[in-house]
Amino acid sequence: MYKSQYRGANKQNLQGDGRLRDKSMTEERPVYLSSKNRAVRTPQAFGRDGTATEPTDGDCPDRAWPACWDAAASLLEWSEPYERIVDKENAPFYRWFVGGRLNAAENCIDRHLEERKNQVALRWEGKRGERRTYTYYDLYREVSAVAAALREIGVEEDDVVTIYLPKLPELPITMLACARIGALHNVVFSGFAPNALAERMQRVDSRALVTCDGSFREETVIDQKRKADTALASIEESVPTIVVNRLGSSHDMHLGGNQYDYDDLVEAFTGANVPPVPREATDPLFHIHTSGTTGEPQRMTHATGGYLTGVAWTAQTVFDLTPGTTIWCTADAGWITGHSYVVYGPLLSGATVVLAEGSLRYPDRHRPWEVIERNGVEVFYTTPGVIRTFMKWGVSFPASHDLSSLRLLGSVGEPISPDTWEWYYTHVGQERCPIVDTWWQTETGCVLISVRPGVDELKPGSVGPPLPGIEIQIVDEDGRELPPGKPGYLTIDRPWPSMLVPLEGDRYWVLAEYWQAFSDPRADSWRYFTGDRAVVDDNGYVTIIGRDDDVITIGNRRIGTAELEAAITTIDGVTEAAAVAERTIGKSALCVFATLEQGQQDRTAIRDAVADAVAEHVGEFARPASVVFTPELPETYSGKTMYKLLKRIVNDRPPTDSDTLRNPEVVGELTTIWNRE
Ligand code: WTA
Repeated sequence: MYKSQYRGANKQNLQGDGRLRDKSMTEERPVYLSSKNRAVRTPQAFGRDGTATEPTDGDCPDRAWPACWDAAASLLEWSEPYERIVDKENAPFYRWFVGGRLNAAENCIDRHLEERKNQVALRWEGKRGERRTYTYYDLYREVSAVAAALREIGVEEDDVVTIYLPKLPELPITMLACARIGALHNVVFSGFAPNALAERMQRVDSRALVTCDGSFREETVIDQKRKADTALASIEESVPTIVVNRLGSSHDMHLGGNQYDYDDLVEAFTGANVPPVPREATDPLFHIHTSGTTGEPQRMTHATGGYLTGVAWTAQTVFDLTPGTTIWCTADAGWITGHSYVVYGPLLSGATVVLAEGSLRYPDRHRPWEVIERNGVEVFYTTPGVIRTFMKWGVSFPASHDLSSLRLLGSVGEPISPDTWEWYYTHVGQERCPIVDTWWQTETGCVLISVRPGVDELKPGSVGPPLPGIEIQIVDEDGRELPPGKPGYLTIDRPWPSMLVPLEGDRYWVLAEYWQAFSDPRADSWRYFTGDRAVVDDNGYVTIIGRDDDVITIGNRRIGTAELEAAITTIDGVTEAAAVAERTIGKSALCVFATLEQGQQDRTAIRDAVADAVAEHVGEFARPASVVFTPELPETYSGKTMYKLLKRIVNDRPPTDSDTLRNPEVVGELTTIWNRE
């Protein structure tokens, strides 16, 4: 539950943080009007078999904390029981499940062998219509073979292996092979350019690389290996590299020195017995980089026991995964969402994972619905950006498929506007499936704020209450708790098992970035700052306003991008919007970028309607100075609107960071459109 407790913050620290200084601002309460104005809805027709384990019966009162996390940890198999749930000695660098030992791959695979060795663990659909299925036993065999192969090429416990693969079965298999031998994986999104790969390898001192020969993009071939080789050439040491053959025998695979064919290794090591290496619960499981939407991409680290506990528990409580449930999460394993809810969460739960390589629009716009139909997908998890794309394409696509297998829908990564929520609920979930709008971060490891399906009411546009055991506070710039209805900074008051566990060398910046603003180190009182702004209602439901850096100040008022965009997308014909501020001396003006449904001609009328909608829902003071139409918004590979870049464009600064963009080609186009308007 959202708790009313003020623990005080360190004012001195606050002074050091420029972002938090200005107290004179007033704020409007977010509007978030759904076009149908339906505020609360009870999940209907959502069967729950009653097997879900809560860390407690709903709430976790102070006296039961942290003991309430025992139940979540008991979802895992421990080779050595832990002695302490949480060690606060070095707060805020908490250590969870101290003394315990376990292995992630054993928990994802071996423990299922007795009961479900022949159950499907992974269904893969390739870009060219190929299909492959792996049972838990198949995974066991291939993961063991790859684990033996990694050892053969010199990987030892605690070494880091970088994985640079598109959505192929070999990606989760290699992650689990690393985990089996106690090596850390460092997955780098396969679309990144060579220099981004090299940087991410060097930052973690990567001892090996796993990549592939290439991949297909619609009709062309992407030479993945050449990108990898370019990156490797810029690294001083020779890094042993395993290459997966994706292109097939029609393409020659040229292996250089210290490079190995994945298939040859698997063949050589099939049948190898590689016992899982028990790891300390506090030992790192992997590195991952943040997506770089706001700042520079940073190295994050998660620890074995705490991370797996959070993920196993939310897989069950939020996604209702039980053995045999089929889940399709569209995220790439290069992001935390892919780690937690494509790989670890589902496999820990004994579920069946669907992995679909390639774009959702290839070979045509029926693909997403065909994947659901063919595989009997029960849980579908994606981003608001993807849902907006589906909206743009129109209802005829989902309507022409049998989606009756779906039971639960999820959204993550950005605020979802009530209109988008309604569309998802009606046309994908057919008013039958609850939607879990899950708030979390790379840093938090697992979902922390979300409704629990079958337990909590749904409210379009709100992510819901914090999960049991999680305590959040909305605070002002002085760290004082704000009452319901007052927007402020979203903070987390108590540690949680799957929290970031920075390496020694990262502690300094992690402290400054996440803990300094609202903690009081002298009183040993620590509060995590998420970087987001949010508001809670009287029932403790949280609405995310947006990243603090993206909040717009107009005429001394701070308005969240989510609120503006929710107002703008109520206009028929507008599918997506992004609002940023153009600063001129002494004041700033609101600029809106919007994309239109296909066939929308009357731009002047829409432009006026957009301006009126902002004035009506948010206030006359916020009426946009310009509304610019664009074919696409700039987006990161993980599906977030790149506000940072739009801000540069409207303020006539040269665009940067194009290597974190999914659609870098829009940058030139946007700059041209902006300058013309
Ligand atoms: C945003 C993704 C609104 C938020 C798992 C957060 C959301 C950042 C939601 C983390 C949501 C995530 N509603 N905003 N349901 N989920 N965010 O690290 O700003 O890629 O801080 O992790 O995404 O992004 P990250």
